[in-house]
Amino acid sequence: MQIDNDDERILAGEQGETRQKMLELLVALGKVFGAERLVPIRSAQVSGASYKTIGEFGLQWLNSLDATTVVPAVLNPIGMPRTRWQEMGIDADFARKQQAVVAAYERLGISLECTCTPYYLHETAFGDHLAWSESSAVSYANSVIGARTNREGGPSALAAALIGKTPCYGLHIEKNRKPHVVIDVQIATRDWTIADYGALGYHSGKLVGNRIPFFTGIRPDHDQLKALGAAMAATGAVALYHVEDITPEAQKTRYRIRDLEKIPVELREIANIFREVPVEAVALGCPHCSPEELGTLARLLAGKRVRKPLYIFASQGVIDANRKFVETIGKSGAKVYADTCMVVSPVMEQYKGIMVNSGKALAYVPDMCGGVARIGTTEECVKVAME
Ligand code: F3S
Repeated sequence: MQIDNDDERILAGEQGETRQKMLELLVALGKVFGAERLVPIRSAQVSGASYKTIGEFGLQWLNSLDATTVVPAVLNPIGMPRTRWQEMGIDADFARKQQAVVAAYERLGISLECTCTPYYLHETAFGDHLAWSESSAVSYANSVIGARTNREGGPSALAAALIGKTPCYGLHIEKNRKPHVVIDVQIATRDWTIADYGALGYHSGKLVGNRIPFFTGIRPDHDQLKALGAAMAATGAVALYHVEDITPEAQKTRYRIRDLEKIPVELREIANIFREVPVEAVALGCPHCSPEELGTLARLLAGKRVRKPLYIFASQGVIDANRKFVETIGKSGAKVYADTCMVVSPVMEQYKGIMVNSGKALAYVPDMCGGVARIGTTEECVKVAME
């Protein structure tokens, strides 16, 4: 693996033990995956931010590090809103430990924007190399933006943030970004919603596993692409997908899909995913809401009152830029929270039935929160919250 002179000096320990160890980690990873070099990255997104997932051992490891980031880097959602954790009913002991995790990352220079949608906050462009770790963010960056990132683990994303480079293998290389299988969606009878695309992703992830799918027969907008990719990354291991005539690489590259395996998907397969179960709370914003999604919720909730807990998650940056929507939503009794989400926060563990509009949340809520999940459209979720 080619190492330049600057990196040789880091490996020799000239910039401290933390940077030395972090570069050793990246080089070792590169050797395992056959990388010929390291590639400079535009930004990093670091998972392993919730105390619920990293625990005491992870916290101790973070506190042992001594270096600062050299590229913009954000955190994945943490286990609670940083400033409104009491309002959410978070246990004080958990909050203290979560604050210690956040402080450890802050000391390393990671921005405390804790989100799985960093693409709404920082410019990320076609062809940029990144080291992102949250699976839906990775899917969106690769597929919808046409940037290039493997799905990093928390430590390798952190190492990349501290070094400014990542090993150049996998999805950083053009030839590895070609589709492997065609998903032919044979449905065109109704206007599809975010939830429909989430359900399609939930179903398709199971069909394709870790292959790169090429979708035909659909015309999703950006929020629907986000829902599709997030769900596929949850039920499969899909870090990149293409949609005919829609996603940037499918537009720029004439992929030869004629010879690929073709999997048809019919309406009934998606309709089966929309099952009714008793609901105690509703949670929206998985992945974190876009400005448009907050606008839709403000319109649906204006002048109304919710009777069940309705949690809405978005990044602090998107909330700050859309205060009017957030105020309208707040007047209905629904709560908009930054920094955290329905899966990484312990807050949803108190409910036995949770309604979502996300295929990813449908997949994760049973394991991570212990409740039963039901998927419905955003309109249905709001209606159920008002019953
Ligand atoms: Fe984001 Fe949490 Fe969903 S990290 S994608 S809102 S599970």
